[in-house]
Amino acid sequence: MNCLSPSILAADFKTLGEQLRLIDEAGAQYVHIDVMDGMFVPSISFGIPVIRTIRDCTKRIFDVHLMVEEPYRYIGDFAEGGADHITVHAEACTHLDRTIDAIKARGLSAGVALNPATPLSELDWILEKTDLVLIMTVNPGFGGQGLIPYTVEKIRALRQRIDAAGYHTDIEVDGGITHENAADILKAGANIIVSGSSVFHGDITENVRRFLDILNARP
Ligand code: DX5
Ligand code: ZN
Repeated sequence: MNCLSPSILAADFKTLGEQLRLIDEAGAQYVHIDVMDGMFVPSISFGIPVIRTIRDCTKRIFDVHLMVEEPYRYIGDFAEGGADHITVHAEACTHLDRTIDAIKARGLSAGVALNPATPLSELDWILEKTDLVLIMTVNPGFGGQGLIPYTVEKIRALRQRIDAAGYHTDIEVDGGITHENAADILKAGANIIVSGSSVFHGDITENVRRFLDILNARP
């Protein structure tokens, strides 16, 4: 299924609860939560207390993207805080296999994210047990950047690989996705679109509706 995962990094934090209600009512299936530690990426965003607080605002799927060094240390905390999906960066895990197992042991979906320059071969031995692959279409750390064009070819190659193996792994894309380029990204093989700026800047309800129209136009 094709889904929209609005990134609250671009939300107005003064009215975060209200903005969550708007994306939920407009039909966005997920809430994308970008956790940044100031080490793996330059920025610091927010952490477990914020997630725990907003858990009451919506029943939508909490899609937690950990841009954190050695996220294994925090899997239990994020699970208890209300995460449904936890995605970790392959580049940030000394023991990626163990980290995936820890997420799945909590009954959550396990995602593996790859930075733009990280090859798909990082997935060689763990793709089978991974529920979701997050292809970063920008270098992580900031919202509002432009999509790096070569990442579209990477999505295409991953889709071919997943289909050839007969897996049902989701392909999520994150960074610089707009109403203008979303159709091409879906055509390349992604099925979960993350968007911050193009959802939260302007009319949120209308922005979600436009993305859902694009997502629903493809099976
Ligand atoms: C980047 C984050 C993204 C970002 C997306 O480090 O992982 O989720 O907030 O924002 P836009 O859609 O503005 O590129
Ligand atoms: Zn993200």
